[in-house]
Amino acid sequence: MRAVLVGPPGAGKGTQAQILASELSIPKVSTGDIFRANVSGGTELGKQAKAYMDRGDLVPDEVTNAMVRDRLAQEDAQGGFLLDGFPRNVAQAETLNKILGDLDERLDAVLELRVDEEEVVKRLSGRRSCRNCGHVQHVDFDPPATAGVCDACGGELFQREDDKEETIRHRLEVYREQTAPLVQFYENEGILLTIEAVGSVADVTARAKAALGNRS
Ligand code: AP5
Repeated sequence: MRAVLVGPPGAGKGTQAQILASELSIPKVSTGDIFRANVSGGTELGKQAKAYMDRGDLVPDEVTNAMVRDRLAQEDAQGGFLLDGFPRNVAQAETLNKILGDLDERLDAVLELRVDEEEVVKRLSGRRSCRNCGHVQHVDFDPPATAGVCDACGGELFQREDDKEETIRHRLEVYREQTAPLVQFYENEGILLTIEAVGSVADVTARAKAALGNRS
């Protein structure tokens, strides 16, 4: 399956992509995770991306598109992938069609996770991510057994720089202006599936699986 998860920050794209990709045995390709790994590693790409990310703005398309083109050309993505966080605007969606066309591939589905903005603010302000393995938890909705310690690997949990309330509000504005138009774009392409992303993580996964059904 070649699919994209789209939805506002905090909709649960990363959480669901992790579960679905593992069940489908395909890679989860998260542009946010790739950027954050580059920022931590101090690479040139990380240096280019950091200021945009800290403000909650999109990293410029030329940087992001080149990174995705390289990632999708890798061996493990040839049998399918789940994209989380890309595309983020119509220009990136058009580039993705071109990248896939060059590989003689096309998208099977775009899954929109719908959730209201106040829920997003609650989810993101309580999110904690593991510095070691990237596992994501929540102080109230998925609390770690020991405060500040990752349940998956025992690593240190930290709060993302862009998960401060003011930055979350700005990311939501960016979503409304630049990313939300993708819903109509993919509706027009006939591959849009929409689910409500509220309720437990397991409930959302069940809805996602039912919607994706036999799209591969
Ligand atoms: P990115 O990392 O993609 O951030 P985002 O889209 O804002 O999404 P998030 O990771 O914040 O949320 P999510 O939907 O994955 O939610 P999660 O599963 O973690 O991008 C970060 C930055 O990188 C961007 O601002 C930009 O600068 C740059 N960037 C990335 N891609 C780019 C692109 N294509 N172009 C340009 N720039 C780009 O869940 C959130 C919390 O909620 C967690 O704590 C989780 O435990 C909890 N949770 C999940 N599901 C539920 C549930 N059902 N009930 C209760 N809690 C839940």
